[in-house]
Amino acid sequence: MRSSFSPRRYLMCPPTHFRVTYSINPWMDPTKPVDLALALAQWEDLRDRYRALGHTVEVLEPRPDLPDMVFAANGATVVDGRVLGARFAHPERTAEAAVHREWFHSHGWDEADVREPVHINEGEGDFAVTDSWLLAGRGFRSSPLSHPEAQEFFGRPVIGLDLIDPRYYHLDTALCVLAGDEVMYYPDAFSPGSRAVLARLFPDAIVAEEADAAAFGLNAVSDGHHVLLPQAALGLCDPLRDRGYEPVGMDLSELLKGGGSVKCCTMELRSAD
Ligand code: ARG
Repeated sequence: MRSSFSPRRYLMCPPTHFRVTYSINPWMDPTKPVDLALALAQWEDLRDRYRALGHTVEVLEPRPDLPDMVFAANGATVVDGRVLGARFAHPERTAEAAVHREWFHSHGWDEADVREPVHINEGEGDFAVTDSWLLAGRGFRSSPLSHPEAQEFFGRPVIGLDLIDPRYYHLDTALCVLAGDEVMYYPDAFSPGSRAVLARLFPDAIVAEEADAAAFGLNAVSDGHHVLLPQAALGLCDPLRDRGYEPVGMDLSELLKGGGSVKCCTMELRSAD
């Protein structure tokens, strides 16, 4: 069994003001109604599940003018207790970056450890941390120039990965870090060269089928043992169990209407130790 649990600290933002009034990814259809009460209940289930598993969940105050704030993963990337802020690609989300930076400033982070980036990056939407690398998506949102910027800031080798399918517009819709250098991913979301890179770095990865990727199954959060993922991604459960992980199915159907699920709602606050 390679998996091993460790308690995590997460930042989440309730979908109090969630709505789909604009479309910046193919999942967002402003003509489709959103059940806000259900969205809130589903989000609370996720938050409560993390807490029940022994994790700390910090809560960011939502803003009425920022309906996508529930997707807290996009607001920054935190590694070794240092924060690389976000810079959003779309004007609809621009103001979220400062709200996140402000949260870090008012919650004990040193000014020097919170960086406002020069280049566009959508936080953990496009950055994924493994033991050896910082995996970095590009193609739809984060600028390729954000990759050397992150490498310089974190001092971790960045592996740039090209996303080619608009349905998988963020790296975290197509790849999930399970533990150490173990990942699961959906190859067709990546360019042929990036697919070859992934196969070389992660020869033992769980390779997802299209149906599980389309159910947002890669938009998952692992604590090293439990893997919280959309419950419709049934095909990932056995491969996860075979590797010693415990899949935990969650229903975030309402948030999928915004183009996000478990991981998008969850930023990990990684400390220095
Ligand atoms: N509506 C949001 C957007 O398009 C969804 C973001 C989902 N977040 C994520 N980490 N993939 O930006």
